[in-house]
Amino acid sequence: MSMTKQDGIPDYPGLWRKLNALGQEDFVQSLQQQVRHQYGGAGHGDLPRWLTALEALREFTGTGFEVVDGELRFPMAGNQDGLREDLLALSPWRKGPFYFGDTFVDTEWRSDWKWERLQKQISPLAGRAVLDVGCGNGYHLWRMLAEGARLALGIDPAMLFGCQFLAARHFAGGDLPIGVLPLGIEDVPANLQCFDTTFSMGVLYHRRSPIEHLEALRGTLCPGGELILETLVVDGDEQTVLLPHGRYAQMRNVWFLPSSDLLVLMMQRVGFENVEVLDLSITTTEEQRSTEWMTFNSLSDFLDTEDCSKTVEGYPAPKRAVLRATYGRA
Ligand SMILES: C[S@@+](CC[C@H](N)C(=O)[O-])C[C@H]1O[C@@H](n2cnc3c(N)ncnc32)[C@H](O)[C@@H]1O
Repeated sequence: MSMTKQDGIPDYPGLWRKLNALGQEDFVQSLQQQVRHQYGGAGHGDLPRWLTALEALREFTGTGFEVVDGELRFPMAGNQDGLREDLLALSPWRKGPFYFGDTFVDTEWRSDWKWERLQKQISPLAGRAVLDVGCGNGYHLWRMLAEGARLALGIDPAMLFGCQFLAARHFAGGDLPIGVLPLGIEDVPANLQCFDTTFSMGVLYHRRSPIEHLEALRGTLCPGGELILETLVVDGDEQTVLLPHGRYAQMRNVWFLPSSDLLVLMMQRVGFENVEVLDLSITTTEEQRSTEWMTFNSLSDFLDTEDCSKTVEGYPAPKRAVLRATYGRA
């Protein structure tokens, strides 16, 4: 399968047909324009380098994808010499892990652990049209497709992650209804009302206006649709929220960290029903760490060396909540 058309613009075999079936032609056209615009040169100064790395990967032939014992694998036929180096050219790899042929891409995050925490507690994805907002390189989209989603659309403005997705997409081959497109939630038209399940994982705390983020997510859902929200939280009651003075765990762009009870209230205030906290977990340095595939600092560098229950800035260490809610009636 070719990952890009002759003009260097990515192709997403199988995606547009399924998207058109949602009955949102204007949205699909704007997505296609955005793909052309971003991959046509607007996206990022390093894009030509990443596209060159992708071209090098074209010589390797994948034979689909599978999830075996919770491992996401892209089996491969033929010679795999040089594959590892060509994949490293798309570093840093943050979300995963992936097995591309014999190469194990040991990413910064064990994203499979997040998936395990929520997968059995959400409505089964078989036959559902799914949107993953802030999907990174699309690791979880593959897991959603493996669960039988009829469409797995991810959006993420980071072009490197889009290119990592295109690498996996090349190895998977075929006519699959999956894509990671280069746009942010703010580019999605309001009130599309066409997805059965929308995920927003690791995004809310990056938004300056969390209520508006929840409203935008609400607008993506068809009546009776389900939202799965995962975000950083702090301990406390229904009126507790942390707004860092500056950085939080060395991240510059962190805004609101509510308590999980406040998050429930916020979701109820924007009209979600059946709001439930599915999971609360402290992020460990086993789940997020530097590896050969992500050599920059990671969680252990962001925690107080004397007291790992605090960040280097003295805030509570990262704790994440997963919530489920529905909107409207089918
Ligand atoms: C912490 S990562 C989470 C990735 C993945 N959802 C996960 O849970 O592993 C946050 C992602 O949100 C993306 N992002 C940042 N701003 C965004 C926006 N305005 N709309 C959608 N995604 C955004 C980032 O590029 C990044 O990949």
